[in-house]
Amino acid sequence: MIEATSGHPDSLGPITAGVPKKFKKHKASKHDAVTKAGVAETAAAPAAEFSFNLKPHQIAKHLDRFVIGQREAKKVLSVALCDHFQHVRMTTEGLSAPFYQKQNVLLLGPTGVGKTHLIRSAAEMIGVPFVKADATKFSETGYVGGDVDDLVRDLYRRAGNNVKTAEHGIIYLDEADKLATRGEGGGRDVSGRGVQTNLLKLMEDGDVPLVSPNDMTGQLQAAMSAMRGSGAAAPEVINTRHILFIVSGAFSGIDQIIRDRLMGMGQTKAAKLQNVDQLYQQASTADLVTYGLEPEFVGRLPVRVACHGLDADDLFDVLRKSESSLIHQYERAFAAYGIACEFKDEGLRALAALASGENTGARGLMTVCERVFRDLKFRLPNSRVKKFAVTAKLVEAPTDELKRLLKAT
Ligand SMILES: Nc1ncnc2c1ncn2[C@@H]1O[C@H](COP(=O)(O)OP(=O)(O)OP(=O)(O)O)[C@@H](O)[C@H]1O
Ligand SMILES: [Mg+2]
Repeated sequence: MIEATSGHPDSLGPITAGVPKKFKKHKASKHDAVTKAGVAETAAAPAAEFSFNLKPHQIAKHLDRFVIGQREAKKVLSVALCDHFQHVRMTTEGLSAPFYQKQNVLLLGPTGVGKTHLIRSAAEMIGVPFVKADATKFSETGYVGGDVDDLVRDLYRRAGNNVKTAEHGIIYLDEADKLATRGEGGGRDVSGRGVQTNLLKLMEDGDVPLVSPNDMTGQLQAAMSAMRGSGAAAPEVINTRHILFIVSGAFSGIDQIIRDRLMGMGQTKAAKLQNVDQLYQQASTADLVTYGLEPEFVGRLPVRVACHGLDADDLFDVLRKSESSLIHQYERAFAAYGIACEFKDEGLRALAALASGENTGARGLMTVCERVFRDLKFRLPNSRVKKFAVTAKLVEAPTDELKRLLKAT
């Protein structure tokens, strides 16, 4: 069963919701900090044993608390995580699966619709080490930015320096679309291709040395301990055969590539009628390659799912129903000055309508709220106003409403 009901990386609570009891004792350690690869991590590092008895619908239910909509993505992610855990359980129990094919996941969809939010929320429930990194942090050589192998070494650190545990972890690579090298000069520099190439062996079956070749101190220590004879028994590499990769990105503009492909196939009329969501759902290997990803990289991501755009109704639900809703942040900010701020449904609808015009998904809500509440946040703490309601009127004309509030007290 999913146990705790509070706690989310976005909220103020602890991030242990849904983590099996035996992993909840994990205390913050140096491994929890931002890692070498410039990576923020979330999940608690477990001991060398696994305890996972969640079913896909339980993971999806947990995600429902924070992420509005995205049913298909929740379904795919929940199944992928459960499959991974069952596979880990079986291999740790000594039941080998010689023909097991890794179900690495590619999550795509427009900006601000919950791709990162989904994985971040799922990370709470993960009982194996989990590492998140932005693809933009890596460069081909590893001298500038980060080396992709560092991801695996980060996983090892997250696993309490336990190679076996690290070998069953999950690596989440966000902003993968930034690795694309578009032929028509619109893409990034060549390093994107290099990073993809370096990732290939990790995504399938590679060995990563525990000590980075760039880490002089580490190399020296390893050499010294080997000379003393104490290093001989320790494994020096982490094998990535069982590490699950989840990759995501907005791939902005891929809808046009998909439309062009469909039109090229003689489906001109149908293609013209399709909206962005419908197009994203049909993203194929060929489209991702045209976008600028390497075929070998795309090929190693067999599970693909698209997140849909958020309309005004979805954005209303994001504000009203999601436990990570922005309105809690505003309520807390005003409460800090002893001011009760009550969000009315009509006010939330007005905020959602404005945000939907921004075309940046739920991020539009942040932009709109910042604009609407700017003067209120500045002026009310220095006034006698102790409570106010966020109505449609306030959202449409915040300055007038502020004047009225100040006059009335
Ligand atoms: N479907 C959703 N339900 C609830 N909140 C959401 C949803 N989508 C986005 N949000 C909110 O908007 C913020 C930004 O979303 P997120 O980081 O997941 O975007 P993204 O899809 O990864 O976009 P990008 O491709 O630009 O990185 C989240 O932190 C979350 O608060
Ligand atoms: Mg994102």
